Amino acid sequence: MPKPAQPSAAQKTAVRPPIAGMPSTENFSAQVIRWQRQHGRHDLPWQNTHDAYRIWLSEIMLQQTQVAAVLGYYARFLRRFPKVSTLAQAPIGDVLKHWAGLGYYARARNLHRAAQHVMQEHDGQFPTTPEALIALPGVGRSTAAAIAVFSVGARAAILDGNVKRVLARCFGVSGFPGLARVEKILWQRAEQLLPTRGGARAMQAYTQGLMDLGATLCTRTKPACLRCPLRTMCVAHLTDRTAHLPTPRKKMRLPERQARWLVVIHGDVVLLEQRPATGIWGGLWSFPELHADETPTQAACRYGCVAKQFDVLPTFRHSFTHFHLHVQALQTLLRGRRPTAPAQAAWVKVSDAIEQGVPTPVRTLLQRLPWHA
Ligand code: ADE
Repeated sequence: MPKPAQPSAAQKTAVRPPIAGMPSTENFSAQVIRWQRQHGRHDLPWQNTHDAYRIWLSEIMLQQTQVAAVLGYYARFLRRFPKVSTLAQAPIGDVLKHWAGLGYYARARNLHRAAQHVMQEHDGQFPTTPEALIALPGVGRSTAAAIAVFSVGARAAILDGNVKRVLARCFGVSGFPGLARVEKILWQRAEQLLPTRGGARAMQAYTQGLMDLGATLCTRTKPACLRCPLRTMCVAHLTDRTAHLPTPRKKMRLPERQARWLVVIHGDVVLLEQRPATGIWGGLWSFPELHADETPTQAACRYGCVAKQFDVLPTFRHSFTHFHLHVQALQTLLRGRRPTAPAQAAWVKVSDAIEQGVPTPVRTLLQRLPWHA
């Protein structure tokens, strides 16, 4: 009797069409898992560990931030704070310094508070259940689930921005995913779609697979649908709507705000001020800000400096999620005796200031100062 034909290597690895008779939710997770094992990412530094502290740190750094931007910060942070106890005991300034440039600084402050919470409430043992994780400052439902999945293989659903895009497209869910109504539908989907077999390993491959699909194939623009394991069931692909799903946020013009900064230079030091704990860049060091209607001379006077001549540096814009900030820097070179800086302010060597936890626009401006010419 002739032997049945063996499938070729290409046929074995090709993404298979939906498996007849399998419910589509099972099919969805099976396709994601198979694809992740073959084509997903396996060598990121927070993979292949079950240490919840390391996984938590990666998930917080990866909120609103791409993998490539996180890699260097992650390694440096762990070298300085290898354990949750090291982080809990460190001064907040040191934590902010290791975060400087990553943006969204509330994450760094929450990280520090969360480490202290773990020391006090969990005896230094990092929690691994979604319920305990969600009680940590800065950890939301999706992040709690991701940490629980990657550390102990919990059966919990994630729904970050990338996953919202994958689900909105695959199931044709329209409406801006930031709206509570739409988000609720997506969470229901995310819960229904969890794999029902394969235990912890399947949950980990599935969760990583959703993240990898969103980051590498199901991208916001120009998704690579022809390589996608979900292409035969994806509503957006099948109806040619990938460019319209997920529905974008209604375009709102962001408000424009103005700020004037005082750049007082004395020799090789510059005057900086620690910003109030709340508000933008809370707790970070920045240039002193002029009050409305104040002249630069009056502002300098509040810091004990007598200055009459200021160079107006070119205005630059820094965008936040909710507004654009236009900054005008007024620079003066102070001569003679250096006055003592008032509380919350300090004279800082420019090179040290760049090392400190300063927001990106402050760093950019520092780098433009004469010493860096
Ligand atoms: N984005 C959020 N979490 C991630 C992870 N664990 N790996 C890659 N990208 C991510």
